Amino acid sequence: MTTAPSLIDPLLMRQTMGRFATGVAVVTTEFDGVPHGMTVNSLTSVSLDPPLLLVCFNHGARSVEAVTTAGGFVVNVLSRRHQEIALRFARRGEDHFAGLGLEYEGHRVPVVPQALAHLECDLERTVEAGDHTVVFGAVTGVCTREGDPLGFYGGRFSDIVPHGQALDPWFF
Ligand SMILES: Cc1cc2nc3c(=O)[nH]c(=O)nc-3n(C[C@H](O)[C@H](O)[C@H](O)COP(=O)(O)O)c2cc1C
Repeated sequence: MTTAPSLIDPLLMRQTMGRFATGVAVVTTEFDGVPHGMTVNSLTSVSLDPPLLLVCFNHGARSVEAVTTAGGFVVNVLSRRHQEIALRFARRGEDHFAGLGLEYEGHRVPVVPQALAHLECDLERTVEAGDHTVVFGAVTGVCTREGDPLGFYGGRFSDIVPHGQALDPWFF
């Protein structure tokens, strides 16, 4: 796919998309006995039936090769207690698991303990898009726990505070 040269500077694009508040997750995988993990906020739910999600990996990310070669990964949705974990798994070129005990909690690959959700995925497909590889995951297992989410807004970690009212379960 060829893309026309952009009139929008990449930094302006990042700053503008930074106005879209997100949660924060770590994608973990393991290949040849070596664990890999990376902090992401490009996580998107794609389809409910079948259950599909996507994560965008920049072309410099080491984890994308591990994810595609391993053929599977877990999305760990972080709680507000996980800011250090988010920073650890965002440091470029470092061994993100150095000094961490590996916890599997029944999954095929190491997971982040106390995450608000674990979504176990088989690699469904990858799509090259601009300077990122879009990785689609077919969700094969989920578990959730109560807690406060870690948010990301304007390039900073932030809290996500619920409003009082509950939405009808069929609001979508
Ligand atoms: C809050 C936050 C969200 C991030 N989201 C993404 C993302 O969605 N995709 C991406 O490629 N990098 C993202 N990054 C940057 C990667 O975590 C970082 O480049 C990481 O070190 C790459 O892993 P590597 O060292 O294995 O290449 C994010 C960083 C932070 C702090």
